[in-house]
Amino acid sequence: MCINSLREYTPQKKGRVQTKLQSNLLKRSSVPPSFDSVNRMRIVEIMEVRKESANVKTFTFIDKLCGKAEPGQFVMVWIPGVDEIPMSLSAITSEGLSSITVDEVGEASRALNQKEKGDQIGVRGPFGNGFVPAGGNVMIVGGGTGLAPLMPLTEKLAKVADKVTVMSGVKCRDNLLFLDRIDNILSEVNSETVFTTEDGSYGIECLVVDQVEQKLMKERFDMVYTCGPEQMMYNMFLLAEQYKVPLQASLERIMRCAIGLCGSCQIGKLRVCKDGPVLNSEQLRSVKEEFGKFQLDLTGKKIKL
Ligand SMILES: Cc1cc2nc3c(=O)[nH]c(=O)nc-3n(C[C@H](O)[C@H](O)[C@H](O)COP(=O)(O)OP(=O)(O)OC[C@H]3O[C@@H](n4cnc5c(N)ncnc54)[C@H](O)[C@@H]3O)c2cc1C
Ligand code: FES
Repeated sequence: MCINSLREYTPQKKGRVQTKLQSNLLKRSSVPPSFDSVNRMRIVEIMEVRKESANVKTFTFIDKLCGKAEPGQFVMVWIPGVDEIPMSLSAITSEGLSSITVDEVGEASRALNQKEKGDQIGVRGPFGNGFVPAGGNVMIVGGGTGLAPLMPLTEKLAKVADKVTVMSGVKCRDNLLFLDRIDNILSEVNSETVFTTEDGSYGIECLVVDQVEQKLMKERFDMVYTCGPEQMMYNMFLLAEQYKVPLQASLERIMRCAIGLCGSCQIGKLRVCKDGPVLNSEQLRSVKEEFGKFQLDLTGKKIKL
């Protein structure tokens, strides 16, 4: 009998006596949640809304399954009467408090950003494969709101890595995210932070990728993690290949089912919802004809990025 079926095996349901072994297995936190429970829509109440910048807000809610997510996993968020859209978890706590950080780009994200404390939204997930934490000297590179899924990862890496370098690139000072949070996480670990803006209003005036190259020229990294605009991640991929550093990148594609069925998130032979959203160097090499170049639009047509 597999562990998943043991979870459903209760004396009440089957009218049988639960053995000690089964009872112990049920108690273990490592028991993975069943697929049905992960994919079932849960209605959650927004506990807190935090304005991060002019267009970006963080929403906190309580959900047991999201509390068990890995950094880099995402949820499908239902905004009643509007749409269901994918959002990475930007905070994950064992107490079950989780957050999403939403950049207002269109109808659904605008409607979501108008929600207030006490309002309800639906969540399915967490879905996909998250980041795999590495030890040693690690670099985290976020572009714009792409920093969101990298925050729970930074928290995890601060506990296991020898050194954590966080590089964050935005257009201008007003778009900067999570400054205090990064400070708090890294205050007592061997770390470095680099901020870049395109207009020079904060940190170094350049694209973040340019600073990444400077770092890679001087220092040996064991792993680089990135999330942001696809062109930025593609350039990160080229750099990582050139400097022979393994990379993990969190990709975005149109998502509907989020469970590998509909094909709307296809890239090469991979489905970003199931094989990703975090893809490693080997997977990125396998889709390099499309990565940074094409995606499927809402109708399933291949379009240039
Ligand atoms: C795995 C994953 C994690 C994401 N995490 C975040 C996050 O943490 N914060 C954040 O602000 N955004 C995140 N996004 C992007 C977010 O899902 C889109 O910005 C959102 O769906 C746009 O919907 P809209 O109706 O507001 O805009 P629209 O006007 O519908 O679209 C605006 C843009 O978003 C894209 N888009 C539209 N619908 C979808 C969809 N169902 N799936 C993916 N892209 C879509 C369109 O191609 C278009 O480029 C993530 C996307 C993915 C795939
Ligand atoms: S969203 Fe349907 S297969 Fe990925």
